[in-house]
Amino acid sequence: MTKPNFKPLQNIQSSVPDIFTPAQVGRYELANRAVMAPLTRNRAGEGGVPRAMNVEYYRQRASAGLIITEGSPISAQGVGYPGTPGIYTSEQVAGWKRVTDAVHDEGGCIFLQLWHVGRISHPSLQPDGELPVAPSAIQPMGEAFTADGLKPFPTPRALETDEIADVVTQFRTAAENALEAGFDGVEVHAANGYLLDQFLRDGSNHRTDRYGGSLENRVRLLLEVTEAVVEVWGADRVGVRFSPVNGFNDIRDSAPDVTFPYAASRLNRFGLAYLHVVEASFVGEEHPRTFDKAKLRRVFKGAYMANGGYGHQTAETALAAGAADVIAFGTPFLANPDLVERFALGAALNEPDPETFYGGDERGDLDYPFLGDPVTAVTATAA
Ligand code: PHB
Repeated sequence: MTKPNFKPLQNIQSSVPDIFTPAQVGRYELANRAVMAPLTRNRAGEGGVPRAMNVEYYRQRASAGLIITEGSPISAQGVGYPGTPGIYTSEQVAGWKRVTDAVHDEGGCIFLQLWHVGRISHPSLQPDGELPVAPSAIQPMGEAFTADGLKPFPTPRALETDEIADVVTQFRTAAENALEAGFDGVEVHAANGYLLDQFLRDGSNHRTDRYGGSLENRVRLLLEVTEAVVEVWGADRVGVRFSPVNGFNDIRDSAPDVTFPYAASRLNRFGLAYLHVVEASFVGEEHPRTFDKAKLRRVFKGAYMANGGYGHQTAETALAAGAADVIAFGTPFLANPDLVERFALGAALNEPDPETFYGGDERGDLDYPFLGDPVTAVTATAA
């Protein structure tokens, strides 16, 4: 006789996860499902070295189920903004070690985001004032943040086929450095119009070699990079980030509903910890409106991390519906170091201050109050 195939109602109910339910993501059981999304803060010290302010910033936010750091340039060529903390010099590695120690002291888990900006840069940010590199010599619309203010992005230089192995090596070396710096894992940044995304999408990749043209060719660099990073870390400590509908950085693809599920399916052979999907566009609705994110979730074998404008209730709805395994919050974590506790108590959130997002000092970085903090000196001065 076969056993009846049912579970007591109570078990079914308790198996519906919420933000406070631990989640298995690759090798790790995360304490909760609220991930801190990568957030560019442009506050690294000289030479792109993480400094005391950065250590404190991440320490404050260690109650996230997982912190993903701001994008960390993997090489001097990968830099596109001032004040971004890199992972390609020994000083940077030592700086990040202080960050990971602080987060671990607080019981947190932290992945580094491996970042190469490709064409989203400027000669003044590049070694020897060279042109930024890209899959193809196509000038993106928009302006770079240089030390002398905003400057139009130049037409980049297309990478030669035989230079691409060096890009893979840049990712591999950076992954090794991240291991040395004490991170728990790494995220490969293949989103938001930066180098790997420039290869994936047909608006920016017009190559005719084995890295361009067909979908299979456009995905090749991502797969080579992922393979190199997985060799360093093991797949269960590696995630990849996509942003299928984001038109930020003047990026576009003629068929994101084909490109990204295909790329996700090709990643399956590694057994990665997670796929992190920016589901929104940073630049309004000019980019494809209808994207089947449920298809991407179905195709990918691994945890699905959703990002893009989620709040407490929308996150709970997505988790309960099984639309995502974990949710990455950006500005809510920026402005609320104790976001998880605030969610648990149903407490009001601090409002993020866009004026202090990029660059500057401790203000807007370290002085967002925790629940129960007395009014801070900074707030008092400002009042
Ligand atoms: C930014 O600095 O605006 C930025 C950086 C990396 C991203 C997205 C935005 O992935």
